Amino acid sequence: MLKSLLSRLDPRRTHPNTPPATEPAPTPPPEAGTSSPHPEKHPTPSSPSADSNTESSPESKPESGSSLERENENEDQSPPEEALGGAGSSTSEAVDLEFGGRHHQGLMTPGGIEVTPTSVHLGEDWRRTLWIGEFPDEPQDGLFEALYASPDTRDTDISLHIQPRETERTLTALENQLEDLEADLQYLGEKHRASARGVRADLEDYQELYDVLRNTPTRAFDVSMYLSTHAKTEDALRSRVDAVGSVARRAPVNLAPILPRWQQQQALQAGSPFGVDALAESMDTSTPMLGGAVGAMFPFVSGAFSEPGIEYGTYALNESPLVVDRFERETGYCMLVIGQLGAGKSFSTKLQLVRRAMHDSQTVLVMLDPLEGFASVNQALGGERITVGGRRGFNPLELSPTPEDVLESVPDLDPWAEQVAWVLGFFETFFEAVALNPLEGRTQTLRRAVQETYEQAGITRDPQTHARESPTIRDLLRVLEALQDNPEAYGYVSSGEQSNVQRDAQSLLTDLRPSFREGGDLSHLASPTDFDLDAPVLYLDLHQEEGARSRGETTLLMQVLFNAVYERAKQSDKRVVFVIDEAHYLLSEAGSLSFLETAVRHSRHYDLSLQFLTQTGGEFVLTPEAKTIGRLCSMTLIHRVNEEASELADWFGLNAREVEWVRSAKAGNDEDGYSEALLGIDGEVWFPLRVRASDYETSVL
Ligand SMILES: Nc1ncnc2c1ncn2[C@@H]1O[C@H](COP(=O)(O)OP(=O)(O)OP(=O)(O)O)[C@@H](O)[C@H]1O
Ligand SMILES: [Mg+2]
Repeated sequence: MLKSLLSRLDPRRTHPNTPPATEPAPTPPPEAGTSSPHPEKHPTPSSPSADSNTESSPESKPESGSSLERENENEDQSPPEEALGGAGSSTSEAVDLEFGGRHHQGLMTPGGIEVTPTSVHLGEDWRRTLWIGEFPDEPQDGLFEALYASPDTRDTDISLHIQPRETERTLTALENQLEDLEADLQYLGEKHRASARGVRADLEDYQELYDVLRNTPTRAFDVSMYLSTHAKTEDALRSRVDAVGSVARRAPVNLAPILPRWQQQQALQAGSPFGVDALAESMDTSTPMLGGAVGAMFPFVSGAFSEPGIEYGTYALNESPLVVDRFERETGYCMLVIGQLGAGKSFSTKLQLVRRAMHDSQTVLVMLDPLEGFASVNQALGGERITVGGRRGFNPLELSPTPEDVLESVPDLDPWAEQVAWVLGFFETFFEAVALNPLEGRTQTLRRAVQETYEQAGITRDPQTHARESPTIRDLLRVLEALQDNPEAYGYVSSGEQSNVQRDAQSLLTDLRPSFREGGDLSHLASPTDFDLDAPVLYLDLHQEEGARSRGETTLLMQVLFNAVYERAKQSDKRVVFVIDEAHYLLSEAGSLSFLETAVRHSRHYDLSLQFLTQTGGEFVLTPEAKTIGRLCSMTLIHRVNEEASELADWFGLNAREVEWVRSAKAGNDEDGYSEALLGIDGEVWFPLRVRASDYETSVL
């Protein structure tokens, strides 16, 4: 890393008017309502000229007569009417145009300007600009990230002015400096002074610098930097600027911010996107440094995502909004959201749903949640809430016909095989988690019985037959009874086969009957589906007021509902976003995984976006299968995680900084008003994000 030692070359002029930025501030007042909905923090480096002599050409002056000239530099306390002047106040009548002309005018330009020694009052905004007096000696790459990315600098514009320095002139200055240091060293050495050691170290540094400049293509630059903060009131401004000043002073940023008194207007201009370093006309604001140091200062540049879509959050390194459309992803539309307990997964997902509904009211939104979490957002969206459980039928054997166009466009689609696999997965979960007697060796007999049940209902591999009425588990029980009575009729020829099948059928019936009989715990799953899932916004609420449902039953019910919505999405020619909260119920169960994987793989053909939310940590360790599903998702949102961070790094290919971000990400909480997460898009780029809701959004979530 090249050093910015050059800063010591030009001993800084003293600036009598520029004490350090901190002012003794009265108790900071509350800042409610002062934050800007559209933060801007665009580092605006002025483009360095190719001409190496530019440093000698003074910056052009701002146009005279501009509104910025209308100031009252010496008058701290001017009454606003007088000082504001301009269109904003004196012509309030004249600008009362149609369409709220005054309001529009305020969007284009500030209503007026009032300059005080320490701030500028621009229209409705107060602004204070700090100038950077000293930079760290040995800057590391990205050292200012903490400054650019801090929530404290959210309302601060950060500007860099960079001018190339003439190498010859710099070398001459360095030679003089080296000669002085050598003389000092000789003198101090002769006197055996201890301070000679410090001088020797300086000398070595300067020699190194001289060699770099002389013998390599490295260039030197003059750099000035400004931090311009805005707020709606003077008090809010003061506390914000204090916070910005502390971030700037803290390691690893290590800057020395200075408040230029009586020169706030020039400082404001210097910090604005004009690219004119107006403050440099009255004081020496620049610091010479080598190209490497300049490079280290640059903000982390993102291949910013901005396409018509919804805001997933603000990119934490520059606070610009990250606007993405999940249906524009080429590798599918599914999304995995992970994070530890309370990290903010449900909140960010609900926010996406509200924003999606506002962006595109045609998208069907379906929420599945074993807790009660989506009630309010469903209500805000005018959705239908279906409380699942009780007596109303939900048939896991329900099969819907696949639309012709999908069958034509996806040659490897076999809806029949998918359905049989799904039903077997359902029973796998049932035997494992509810009957507590894993299916194991009985799988083949069950598969045969399931196929037979469909065939008896006239449903075969031929997609034309799939519109017929689906059988239910009661039909399956009858087939198992028939298998037990007369296995020969089903093609089991040897006596050994027959007795095996009879034994399996009997054992299956013993496990199935108690739950699926009339009046059994799961009898509603043995009846035809009695729900209409056609609402444009739908909340499937699994939460149960009385009587706890076992974990196994919850998993089973989630599987059934997942399948029902999947079947509906196949039928619909609309886009569907289907959110599954607490997806660990599904992701931890072998019976659902292969089905889920197929659903994720095929979802794109149905314009279906599945969004799985799952906890990490404790008992919710992500299984390898969940990881496969995660890899199939085109978007991954990782909220705060602790213990799995290193595993996640392996799975998702995160680098050390990304791992550190998710480990230290802020969990959601009402106080800060945001959560932090890492968003991966298309398996390629990862964006550190802050997720913030507007007041209105917060009120409906
Ligand atoms: N971006 C945010 N802004 C404001 N508050 C938030 C934000 N994110 C989360 N919260 C708040 O933090 C709390 C926890 O968030 P949330 O319920 O989304 O966490 P979770 O990850 O879904 O947790 P769990 O694993 O328990 O389901 C909630 O009270 C929520 O209101
Ligand atoms: Mg949650």
